Order: sequence, then C-alpha cells, then structure tokens
Amino acid sequence: MRKLIVELGERSYPIFIGKGLLKDPSLIEPYLSASQLMCVTNTTLAEMYADWFKQENLKVAKFNTVVLPDGEQFKNLETLNLIFDALLQNRHNRKTCLLAFGGGVIGDMTGFAAASYQRGVDFIQVPTTLLSQVDSSVGGKTGVNHALGKNMIGAFHQPKCVVIDTEVLKSLPDRELSAGLAEVIKYGLIADQPFFEWLEHNMEKLVQRDEEALAYAIEQSCLTKAKVVAADEREGGVRAILNLGHTFGHAIEAHQGYGVWLHGEAVGAGMMMACEMSRKLGWIDDKLVNRSRKLIEAAGLPACPPSNMSADDFLKYMSVDKKVLDGSLRLVLLKGCGQAVVTEEFDRQALMETLP
Ligand SMILES: NC(=O)c1ccc[n+]([C@@H]2O[C@H](COP(=O)([O-])OP(=O)(O)OC[C@H]3O[C@@H](n4cnc5c(N)ncnc54)[C@H](O)[C@@H]3O)[C@@H](O)[C@H]2O)c1
Ligand SMILES: [Zn+2]
Repeated sequence: MRKLIVELGERSYPIFIGKGLLKDPSLIEPYLSASQLMCVTNTTLAEMYADWFKQENLKVAKFNTVVLPDGEQFKNLETLNLIFDALLQNRHNRKTCLLAFGGGVIGDMTGFAAASYQRGVDFIQVPTTLLSQVDSSVGGKTGVNHALGKNMIGAFHQPKCVVIDTEVLKSLPDRELSAGLAEVIKYGLIADQPFFEWLEHNMEKLVQRDEEALAYAIEQSCLTKAKVVAADEREGGVRAILNLGHTFGHAIEAHQGYGVWLHGEAVGAGMMMACEMSRKLGWIDDKLVNRSRKLIEAAGLPACPPSNMSADDFLKYMSVDKKVLDGSLRLVLLKGCGQAVVTEEFDRQALMETLP
C-alpha cells in the first residue's frame, strides 16, 4: 500500500493506494467518531459490490446506504436531496460520516451533501473509477450541475481520507477507463514532462489494465494533484491549471446533454483544442500537438469536438463557465510540455480559429 498526504494544515488527509484495500476496514474506522456511517452509492455499484455494503464489515453502530440513480444526468439538486432524506430519516447527527462509494458523480454529490448537512459533516472518498481515483476524489471540490452549467452549485469540502483500491478497476467498462486516462494525460501536459514521456511508452499497458502500470499512473497523478491543491486549495491561482481542456470540455458536455459525452471524453477533445490554440499562438510547436493527439487517441479518446457543435455553441457555454472572470475569458493553455499557464491574455483570433 502507498500512502500520500494532501498537505492542508489541519485539513490534511491521507490518500491510500493499493490492491484490495476495500477489504481493510481499519483504514476507515478511525474516522467514525459517532459510529454513524452513511454510504452513498448508485444502483450499478450497489448491485455489483453488494457484499461490501454490509454492516458487519465495519465496526459501526449505525450503518445506512443510500442508492442514487446512476449517471451524470442525475448529478443535480433533486438527487442530492435523496441523500438528505436518508440522513434525516435515519437520524444521523452532526458527527455522522458520509462515505462516497463510486465515481466522480457520487464523490462530488456526497462531498457536497457532507459540506451542507447540518452545516458540515465528515466524509470519506472511496473512488471506484479511474477518473475519480486520479482526480475528483482528491482536492475537495464538490457539487452538482445546473441545466445552465456544469458544477455550478457546490462547495470546497475536503474528505478525511481517500481509499483507492486498484482492484475495483477490473469491473470498470473500457470507455470509462479511457475517460480516466484523459485526466492522467492532463497531469503530464500541465506539470510533469517525465510522466508525459512515461505515458507515451506505457499507454498500451494502461489500456490493457496492467496492474502495475495503473498503480504507478494513479500514484503519479495523485501526487501532482495533491501538490497543486496544497499550493492553492481554493483555486485563487495555480490550481486552475487542473482545468486544462475543461472550458472547452464543459461546453461539449453541456451542449451534448450531460452523460452523452463522458467527462473524460470531453476533456480529451478539449485538451486537444487547448493544444491547437496554444500552437496557433506560437506557444508550442506542431510536434507537441501531434504527440498529444497520439496519446489521446491511444487512450481511446476523441481528439476532436463533436461535429454538431458550432463556434457559437462553444461561446454560449463558455460564457457561463466559472472560469470566465469579470466578463473576460480565462483559459488554461500550454507554453510547453509540462508547462500550463492560466491566462486572459491571448489573441482572440486564435480562439476563433480553434473553434469549429
Ligand atoms: N471534484 C473534482 O475535482 C472533479 C474532477 C474531475 C471530475 N469531476 C466530476 O466527476 C464526474 C465524472 O466522474 P466519473 O468519470 O467517475 O463518472 P461516474 O461517476 O459517472 O462513473 C462512471 C460510470 O462507471 C460506473 N462505475 C463506477 N465504478 C465502477 C466500477 N468499479 N466498476 C464498474 N462500473 C463502475 C458508474 O456507475 C457510472 O456508470 C463528473 O461529474 C465530473 O464533473 C470532479
Ligand atoms: Zn476533469
């Protein structure tokens, strides 16, 4: 087992990474001060991992599970309310702990429920998709979507710990594995050139679910995420580099209808748009754009935006993106491999030429 720490002073917490960690209740038990635990999961996982959702597995007096419908289209306030219903119906108090068992959708919703239930209770992340293991479970961004924009309602709320069991990836569909690889590639592009090069040599192994390669990619990704979050917890500055490809990607997700393009797929195409735009600005060369495209395609991800989207469609959604500050558009772009910049200062022409 590997243990990393997200260094945030009194809000610091460990990330445990290893094979079969779900079978080890001792990782979770220290956080159950009130002996109350509300597991939040979805219909797919509740069935697939039915054995895990049993009270006898954990030494906890009150153990409840709330099962949400599965899908990005349910990441909204209405579904969130089901968590509050379950907490109140089962009389969970301020000392309860929520446990997110699922991908990023479950993690984001559980975290937001924990941030707001009785003004804030503890929560634990047990991420089960590659995307949530390398990205969404770490860093404390929680929330739900609004019809007019993704993740528009939410809070910063750090988990007490993150338990990453690499074994659960065995049941993950191929398409979801690829979606997670988008965020993995992102870390190489924004901040870690050696890791980008490692990915170029090991993408095939990752796609084939080589256990060692996956564990290494998860660890490196979490290391970068933890470092960036520790430097800028609430995204006042550098943390925004984690959004490479996301402004374009969120526009794709919202326009297609949440859940049609997976988040990671939209980020894959969005990162290519950010690469293309950086090249048009003369900040990176063709070679890096081509290497990125090769990597994104090797991961099984789309490298172009959907054919039914126009430049106007993109602009419409980009103007409600949280990253648009004071009416001016702030984008994450590249100045090299492993060198992301967050800037409002770019030639608008380059943006327009990048949009379809
Ligand atoms: N908070 C953050 O910092 C952050 C960062 C990145 C992404 N996100 C959010 O994360 C969400 C995407 O997360 P995701 O890609 O994990 O999608 P997801 O949560 O929808 O999970 C994908 C699918 O895989 C299924 N699944 C999960 N684990 C499985 C397993 N082990 N075996 C079989 N099936 C499994 C789920 O039931 C679901 O159908 C988006 O809403 C995105 O906005 C948040
Ligand atoms: Zn993302």
